[in-house]
Amino acid sequence: MIQNTVRILRNDREADLYYRLTLRAPRVAPLIQPGQFAHLRIGFLGEALLRRPFSVFQVADETFSILYKTVGKGTEALARMRPGDDLSVIAPLGHGFTVPQPGGETPLLVAGSYGMAALYLLAQRSPQKGVVFVGGRRSADILCVEEFRALGWDVRVTTEDGSRGEHGLVTRPLIDEVRRQAGGRKLFACGPTPMLEAVGRIASEFGVPAELSMDEPMCCGVGVCLACVIPIRKGDRWEYQRTCTEGPVFDARTIAWDVRG
Ligand SMILES: Cc1cc2nc3c(=O)[nH]c(=O)nc-3n(C[C@H](O)[C@H](O)[C@H](O)COP(=O)(O)OP(=O)(O)OC[C@H]3O[C@@H](n4cnc5c(N)ncnc54)[C@H](O)[C@@H]3O)c2cc1C
Ligand code: FES
Repeated sequence: MIQNTVRILRNDREADLYYRLTLRAPRVAPLIQPGQFAHLRIGFLGEALLRRPFSVFQVADETFSILYKTVGKGTEALARMRPGDDLSVIAPLGHGFTVPQPGGETPLLVAGSYGMAALYLLAQRSPQKGVVFVGGRRSADILCVEEFRALGWDVRVTTEDGSRGEHGLVTRPLIDEVRRQAGGRKLFACGPTPMLEAVGRIASEFGVPAELSMDEPMCCGVGVCLACVIPIRKGDRWEYQRTCTEGPVFDARTIAWDVRG
């Protein structure tokens, strides 16, 4: 984990409310593992005092990028930043996804909206190509499809309003797929919490291993404040673990959804 000030190279609107930010960070970029995140201090005009967490989307030699949706004052301030501006970054943070091994299970990735960002590096570094299930409310929430296809993945799109791909929730084609074949598969998911809970249920019902990247609001991002804890099963008990350090990626079987409420 490194804290440093990095230079913005690009900050472009991708679609609708979504932006892609590319940072020059030669000390950080080589360390990043799939599913890890960066904690950004957006202090532009003082709008956002706390850092904001974002999954690392893509990595090149000396740069990394994030894909973000503008939802509030921090991300709106971020969208106003320009190439040449500097940002304070702590990264890479958190415990990411387990990269599949050659000859291991076929990965099935499940993404809701900007959840695609957390899954791209995993797709790129996985020796096995599988299926990516991408879902969103509407067409504008469907991101990076061609970039996943360019990596050799089969991409299946669903939208809740039917404006692109199959009509319905992203979990519907996922269920069809694991019903067809559950053995030798492993699920990796990132997206809104109800989607993650549904993927966890599907994994349990069909006996498929799954890793879920939890989207919990964070403050410090480095394990100190306990703002991000979730209940994790340990045998027949449970304990709170920190999403920012023990997570954000957890084995789906360990998440105590009943305790979380
Ligand atoms: C590990 C991790 C990885 C993330 N990766 C990405 C990413 O790749 N791209 C991206 O766009 N966002 C990502 N997020 C969410 C992002 O951190 C929040 O959207 C951001 O902090 C909102 O800041 P804001 O100041 O714009 O919004 P605020 O003004 O703080 O909040 C605006 C609205 O967004 C909601 N909100 C705030 N934080 C979250 C959150 N974590 N999840 C859901 N809703 C939230 C608030 O409840 C409120 O309704 C990630 C979050 C975590 C924990
Ligand atoms: S955000 Fe502070 S402990 Fe996780």
